[in-house]
Amino acid sequence: MERTYVMVKPDGVQRNLAGEIISRFEKKGFQLVGLKLMQITPELAGKHYGEHEGKPFYGELIDFITSGPVVAMVWQGQNVVSVIRNMMGKTNPAEAAPGTIRGDYAVFMGNNVVHGSDSPESAEREINLFFSPEELVDYKKAT
Ligand code: CMP
Repeated sequence: MERTYVMVKPDGVQRNLAGEIISRFEKKGFQLVGLKLMQITPELAGKHYGEHEGKPFYGELIDFITSGPVVAMVWQGQNVVSVIRNMMGKTNPAEAAPGTIRGDYAVFMGNNVVHGSDSPESAEREINLFFSPEELVDYKKAT
């Protein structure tokens, strides 16, 4: 089953949007297999956003993502990576369609409420960065 890494960013947590975001993915039909509230260290932020190192907004991005707690999650389901990306809306909230999370709840590029892996390969890398295998549940025996 395909899995993806999703994170409610510090702005989303501070604005009490974590429940709303989780609810949207639950209602869509995806399964939550990992969940924790955590504070990201600069070291972990550097690993997560390594591909953006050197870009003009990199420092701002690291400062922002380490500025307060995030809700780190792993979701699973069919085509979960692309479907959750569509449900989040475009990275720039100004261009995100109404009905998407960013389209409904965000205004600025930096404070865009939520992160979701952009490919199955990124998902694998990001899940392993934020979660150990023991932290992920198995639904095989669930009714
Ligand atoms: P995210 O999906 O977490 O992945 C990288 C993040 O970098 C992205 O969301 C945006 O929040 C941020 N980002 C991308 N481009 C810019 C930009 N031009 N200015 C500021 N932040 C950006």
